[in-house]
Amino acid sequence: MHHFLSISDTPTPLIRHMLDTAIELRANPRPTMLAGKTLVCLLEKASLRTRVSFEGAMRRLGGHAMTMLGAEIGIGGRESPEDIARVLHGMVDAIMARVQDHNTLKRMAAVSRVPIINGLSDLAHPAQALADILTMVDEFSPGDVGGIGGRTLAFVGDGNNVARSLAVICGRLGLTFNICSPPGYELDPAWVDDVAGRAPAGAIRLCKDPVEAVLRADAVYCDTFVSMGQESERMQRLRVFARYQVNNELLEQAPKHAIVLHCLPASRGVEITGEGIDGPRSRVFKQAWNRLDAQMGLLATLMG
Ligand code: CP
Ligand code: NVA
Repeated sequence: MHHFLSISDTPTPLIRHMLDTAIELRANPRPTMLAGKTLVCLLEKASLRTRVSFEGAMRRLGGHAMTMLGAEIGIGGRESPEDIARVLHGMVDAIMARVQDHNTLKRMAAVSRVPIINGLSDLAHPAQALADILTMVDEFSPGDVGGIGGRTLAFVGDGNNVARSLAVICGRLGLTFNICSPPGYELDPAWVDDVAGRAPAGAIRLCKDPVEAVLRADAVYCDTFVSMGQESERMQRLRVFARYQVNNELLEQAPKHAIVLHCLPASRGVEITGEGIDGPRSRVFKQAWNRLDAQMGLLATLMG
């Protein structure tokens, strides 16, 4: 039994298996694969893509999903994460949780007899990273996950949960991960050294300038400057991040074939222009749709 709390905690063969399975299930649907199985989704934060893709993937595989909102459950307030997991593992076959604090997932995983799946925490968004890599595979080596080794993903913006999961998955699959963040918002250098040491096939490059990051990129990626839970820092963040917008001027510095990715939801005109999302290089909506296939690969691997 495996949990899926972060890419770092997940062995590389399992990550490859999830991606290969996503591709396989997309081509050859298995509408009874998870028949009789139930997933419960616990959401402490808002969600469109994650919720719909997990529920949708369960249905496509013949299983059942139910969602509960954090306010109803009171994780850590009304009941401890451990007791929630102890109750649920007698009733369901896997638990997906979107949490304020990554530690909640760890506490559930420490006692749960069914897989705990991270549907976004302050630290990581590993399910998103699977869909992002799947989108790059579709673009640059259709059907062949191994074929994207050697490609470069450039992330411009906050060294946040999404950036961390991308850094690790790129390292594991042999991609170069360039990241350019404003001072004070970078990935922790000690964490980067640790990740790079464990996955020598890829490389993480901390860039000083957004242009330096995108110059040799195959994909240019951005995310909100103000993640859920950081709303009180909004004004300061918008000031600090102003020159980190993905716009035409920056995209002109990237190779002609480079695609544009964003995990969504986007603030159009802030971290990315409307043209960036809607333009010919954008794969942003394909990327969102790929959440469904990625979730099928993930759930089939953990529950199948
Ligand atoms: N990208 C993503 O996780 O979207 P939601 O927050 O809508 O689930
Ligand atoms: N970094 C963003 C991702 C949303 C999908 C957040 O945590 O709000």
